[in-house]
Parts: sequence; C-alpha cells; structure tokens
Amino acid sequence: MRVTRKGVLIAVEGIDGAGKSTQVDLLERHLTSLKPSTTYVLRLKEPTDGPFGKKIRELAEDGRSSTSVMEEFQLFLNDRIEDVKQNIMPALKRGSIVIMDRYYFSNIAYQGARGLNIDYIKNENEKIAPVPDILLIIDIPPEIGISRIRNLRGDTPNAFEDERYLERVREIFTTLAEELPYAHLIKGEKPITSVHEEIMEIVLADLPNLSSSSQS
Ligand code: TYD
Repeated sequence: MRVTRKGVLIAVEGIDGAGKSTQVDLLERHLTSLKPSTTYVLRLKEPTDGPFGKKIRELAEDGRSSTSVMEEFQLFLNDRIEDVKQNIMPALKRGSIVIMDRYYFSNIAYQGARGLNIDYIKNENEKIAPVPDILLIIDIPPEIGISRIRNLRGDTPNAFEDERYLERVREIFTTLAEELPYAHLIKGEKPITSVHEEIMEIVLADLPNLSSSSQS
C-alpha cells in the first residue's frame, strides 16, 4: 500500500534475540528528544495484544505442529490488518513518526522460512499495509540470539526460536536488506550504544528535514 501521508514509518526487524526492543526503546527516546513539539512518536509492536496477537502467542507457547504455514500467515496478516486500521494509518495521517517493533518483513522471513512463497507474502502484505520509509534489519547469528534469550531474558526459547529455522529466517532478512532500496542491514553483535549510533546515522540521513517535514 503506497499512500500519501504526512508521517514517517520506520520498521525494525531481526531474528529473536537480535536486540530489536532495546534499539526501538533508544530510537523512540532519541527521536522524541529531537522532534518538534507538535509531532508524536508512536511505538508499536507486532504481533499486537489484540485477539489475533493473543492467538499467535498461544501457538508460540504450545508449539506449531498442528498449524499450517498458511494458517499462521493468515493470523499474522489479520493481526496486521487491525493494527494498520486502528493505529498505523491514523498516526501517519496525523503526521506522527511511527516505529514498528516487527512488521510485515517478519511475516516474509518467518513464514517464508517455513516454505510459503516470499513474493506472495510480500504482495499480500503490501495490499493492506503501508511500505515503510526506513527498514532497519538488525543481524546476528542465531546461536547468539538464542543464547541471549536463555541467559539474559531467562526464558526458554519458544516454537519460533529453533536455531536451524532461525538461520533460514536470517537468510531471508539478509536478502531483503540487499534487495529493498529503503532497507539497511545493521550488525547487532556490537555494543548497544554502537548499534544505536548506527541506527541514528541512518535515520537522520534519510530524514534530514525531520523537524521541518514533520511539522507540515
Ligand atoms: P514475540 O513473542 O512478540 O517475540 P519478539 O519479542 O521476539 O518480537 O513474537 C512472536 C514471534 O512471531 C517471533 O518469533 C516472530 C514471529 N513473527 C512471525 O512469524 N510472523 C510475523 O508476521 C510476525 C510479526 C512475527
């Protein structure tokens, strides 16, 4: 979906344990400190906390063996349709800066890694969701992502977090970063502040008129 809008849409992607949420926090705070007083910075997360998002989380806990990749794709897509209608489009129309902690590139990479056709996933999503202005893909090897989940979060990896599967997810993310003109691949193994600095350089280079454009 290519729509005229006043706002800016930034998506942050990467495999589990890449550090997306930490970087989204820092980006949100930094942009909030730079923006003009009339502009909102809205941070959103997919899957959402809505009914489809809840169903998805149950699946992630219980294992996915009984769910086909098509059903899985459809659940994430339905969740996103709601998010676009209720949150993303209204905010972009108001002129907000919207930061997505996961977006439809997760759909492409995770369901693509289960065998669903990548062009199909991308096309279906772009029928219902606006293409972002900036896509930031944080890249780390799956074994590091998984060890971060175990050690730092104290969690047991869920059904989406198997190492060989995440290797395929990572490959798709890397290919997207090479092919999409608005995408940037960022090495996620560096210290948190270095990753943040790299992200800010990209965002500010792409939005040199951040303050003036977001006031219009
Ligand atoms: P979540 O539990 O919120 O994990 P995280 O905090 O790492 O974002 O997300 C659940 C999983 O959903 C995550 O492993 C990636 C996966 N996912 C998809 O498979 N397809 C999608 O379209 C999206 C948005 C997420």
